[in-house]
Amino acid sequence: MQPQAVTLIIEEHRALATVLRALRRSVDKARKSGEPPDFDELRAMLFYMDEMAARVHHANESELLFPLIRERCPALWPVLDRLLAEHGRGESAVRDLEHSLMAWQVMGDERREAFELMLGAYIEGYLGHMEVEESYVLPVAMDYLSAEDWSELDAAFTRQRGALEGSMTRGHRELFDRIVSNQLPT
Ligand SMILES: [Fe+2]
Ligand SMILES: [Fe+2]
Repeated sequence: MQPQAVTLIIEEHRALATVLRALRRSVDKARKSGEPPDFDELRAMLFYMDEMAARVHHANESELLFPLIRERCPALWPVLDRLLAEHGRGESAVRDLEHSLMAWQVMGDERREAFELMLGAYIEGYLGHMEVEESYVLPVAMDYLSAEDWSELDAAFTRQRGALEGSMTRGHRELFDRIVSNQLPT
């Protein structure tokens, strides 16, 4: 049976990928229609990527899962180092994207392409990051970590989530639902 910690990581990847796709769709739609995008909606999506990825998802991976994989499987150190560095870079990339989006909004369409290019690189990078975790790191971890390791991790994930501000994860779920429902075709 798949450990709960793995299920949680994969579910969060699905949600993050959904928001990344929604970002891409909004920007594509604006380019094709020649109309400005819904900047507030784009900002909400970047906010989700920042908060959900940085404060919840990356924390679970960097502080709980990766250290245990490091202990059990030293061969994975180089890939874990790369993933950790990407967590750090992803967080500053979202700040840069927020700035670039603001530039598009206040300076006009001449700044659209710069945002699009930056967003495209961010989306590709983040999807690739999740792919490495799902196709390589998690399967190896499932081979090398014991049942005790997984039950320790499941408990630690639950504890870490419990220590987050009361409404943190519920609030993120509500924001995710809002983003997805705004994306539904009308
Ligand atoms: Fe990650
Ligand atoms: Fe991840």
